[in-house]
Amino acid sequence: MAYKISVQKIEKSHIGEVDFKNLPFGKNFADHIFIADYSDGEWRDCRIVPFGDFTLHPATSALHYGQALFEGMKAERDAEGNPIIFRPEKNIKRLNVSAERMAMPTFPEDLFFEALDKLLTLDHDWVPKEPNSSLYIRPYMFATEKYVGIKVAENYRFAIFSSPVGAYYSQPVKVYVHDQYVRAFPGGVGYAKAAGNYGACMLPMRDVRKLGYDQNLWLDGIQHKYLQEIGTMNVFAIIDGVIITPSLDAGTILDGVTRDSIIRIAQDEGYVVQERDISIDEILHAHSKGTLEDMFGTGTAATIAPIRTFYYKGKDYELPPVEGREISNKLKERYFAIHSGKAEDVFGWIHTVPVNVLQN
Ligand SMILES: Cc1ncc(COP(=O)(O)O)c(C=O)c1O
Repeated sequence: MAYKISVQKIEKSHIGEVDFKNLPFGKNFADHIFIADYSDGEWRDCRIVPFGDFTLHPATSALHYGQALFEGMKAERDAEGNPIIFRPEKNIKRLNVSAERMAMPTFPEDLFFEALDKLLTLDHDWVPKEPNSSLYIRPYMFATEKYVGIKVAENYRFAIFSSPVGAYYSQPVKVYVHDQYVRAFPGGVGYAKAAGNYGACMLPMRDVRKLGYDQNLWLDGIQHKYLQEIGTMNVFAIIDGVIITPSLDAGTILDGVTRDSIIRIAQDEGYVVQERDISIDEILHAHSKGTLEDMFGTGTAATIAPIRTFYYKGKDYELPPVEGREISNKLKERYFAIHSGKAEDVFGWIHTVPVNVLQN
């Protein structure tokens, strides 16, 4: 179905003010934003307008009761310079999984793609040409009902904006395995990309940053024993050549797009991949035997981030030098090559932004 998306172009682009050779994460914003509002059971007033502030009523319910969620994905340029987006269908499906869990309306997939293509066509100059840079795309939704009282809201806003970004981490990361705070537990919202999950992690994140670590590596919420995920990344370990990552079964971790891509690339390369429970004791045991070859995080923003150190109960554990991590370096190389359109898209993961969508 073709939706009516009105377009109001910015009078003068501010792209000239941005230093594309030195892009901090998440601080520059492209010229336009897509917005749709939900009322009486339907998404309405779909529009692309110049990027700018929202006006919110003080009783906007998302601000009080937290019905808010988001997504994150990236666009790069293929060899011909066309903007390409990596696996956006996974993001809209996950957004709708999060929406269901938060009792929010789902967003139609076909409207999402129409909006995305129109927005990226308009803002295609914002997709960086520089290496190790990309256009981070942020779809999100929040309850806009003006109401004080706890109930499922009847009004929502969905929006997509984008931000040209460089690397998220410039160095291998140090993670802190928490045995006090937890992020999620079975029956909770761990699998949803709900804003509150991130708000709840701010205090432990601030604490570990003060201690010199980049992120928390969460353990499960019941036994404080099994690895879950890291800040905004899924976690992998390689023990004796076997690639292991926590399974999604408990519904406590995010079904990461990068996680899935790494699993599929690894299987395609012939590696053994296990999605299963992995305890901190198993990690410590492998470390002591010298069979813990690698640990790394995966996420759209951070891509594949090698872990150089993990802290657990009063002690830092060092991991092997990154240069020697043959398996993850190989997976990373192939992931980047597919993501940037340089390698053949054998998995069908690349969405090319059609250039003519504004004429339709
Ligand atoms: C909590 C959490 N886990 C894992 C991930 C990685 O997911 P993806 O690879 O889809 O970016 C993210 C980032 O979106 C996240 O916020």
